[in-house]
Amino acid sequence: MKIGIIGSGTMGIGIAQVAATSGCEVFLYDTNSAQTEKSLLSLKKTLYKLVEKQKISPEQGEEIFSNIRPCNQLQDFATCDLVIEAIIENKEIKSKVFQNVEETVSENCVIASNTSSISITSLSSELKNPERFIGIHFFNPAPLMPLVEIIPGLLTNKNLPHQIYALMVSWGKISVIAKDVPGFIVNRIARPFYGEALRIAEEQIATAEQIDDAMRTLGNFKMGPFELMDLIGIDVNFAVTKTVYQDYFYDPKYKPSLLQQRMSEAKLLGRKTGKGFYDYSENARNPAAEKNEELYEQIFMRIISMLINEAVEAKRLKIASDEDLELAMQKGVNYPKGLLAWGREIGYRKISETLQNLYEEYQEERYRQSPLLREI
Ligand SMILES: NC(=O)c1ccc[n+]([C@@H]2O[C@H](COP(=O)([O-])OP(=O)(O)OC[C@H]3O[C@@H](n4cnc5c(N)ncnc54)[C@H](O)[C@@H]3O)[C@@H](O)[C@H]2O)c1
Repeated sequence: MKIGIIGSGTMGIGIAQVAATSGCEVFLYDTNSAQTEKSLLSLKKTLYKLVEKQKISPEQGEEIFSNIRPCNQLQDFATCDLVIEAIIENKEIKSKVFQNVEETVSENCVIASNTSSISITSLSSELKNPERFIGIHFFNPAPLMPLVEIIPGLLTNKNLPHQIYALMVSWGKISVIAKDVPGFIVNRIARPFYGEALRIAEEQIATAEQIDDAMRTLGNFKMGPFELMDLIGIDVNFAVTKTVYQDYFYDPKYKPSLLQQRMSEAKLLGRKTGKGFYDYSENARNPAAEKNEELYEQIFMRIISMLINEAVEAKRLKIASDEDLELAMQKGVNYPKGLLAWGREIGYRKISETLQNLYEEYQEERYRQSPLLREI
């Protein structure tokens, strides 16, 4: 199978590795050929490490690498069966690229975007044949993160999601099918993990260290919200929140945090700049969390209730099947359990009461409950 990949940055090269590992012939194009060279060099090192660790044989390493052909022009995609775009997150630039792709490829070629936040329907509507267009959303790093969200737009051919699903399974990915809503499944449902944690810190109810410690110890999350924001990049996380907020017509549930905005402005972006909510410089001493059982329980219940409410609302709106909603959060962001199962375990009534108390305290729409939460 021939796969064209546009954009050889973080995601493009990762997706290329996944496809090439499955034996596909991969054509990799980027307007910046220096980026392609850099990414291929880094892939070579990655493959070498995999050989050293005996995860793959030297022959496999060579085969994967030789399956990827760097290209200088989109015309090289003429015989591709599937083209996946992973360029800059800008609707106008992406649309222009898709129009060029459509002129190059055969009419049977499927065209996909790895966009995290742009509506698939809006991207497809610019094409002559929007039926062949679909979202295939990989997570970073693509070779390591098992999840792929498959997102048909309103105009996508009804059989296409299932064909892509089968292909992704053959690439070793755990796939879920999601509706074309802002944030799809994972980036929508996960918003309160960060947003509610930021609010608790902003109101000085608890410190970042305490919130992280509470979520790790009581929730078994591998990382707390602040550690995770520092890893993702505070600016990147802020940008996703802003997009989801705007695209839901400024629903107060997704309102971004001023604290996060200020951190972005100050370029305190997390690990990549050496400082975010934590200090990563050499000899830095981050304060230990001051343990407080009652406060920890309050923090955990507040954040988990917001998350479970989001999952229940996604279920009500049929953004995905229950099974896919559960899988997506466990495989896309490593949650220790599916949120619907977690809700049953804690008790939906308790979740509802927690949100009701927050609603009464703040008198804010942010804490409104999914109508389904009161029924189940
Ligand atoms: N980084 C992530 O964590 C992540 C996760 C999931 C999805 N995504 C999405 O994947 C896409 C790519 O993100 P990334 O992090 O790999 O970005 P990146 O900046 O690492 O790479 C983008 C590449 O696209 C190239 N490019 C820009 N305009 C181009 C054009 N017109 N034609 C060809 N190449 C062009 C750039 O030169 C660059 O090499 C975005 O849509 C992003 O939202 C990113």
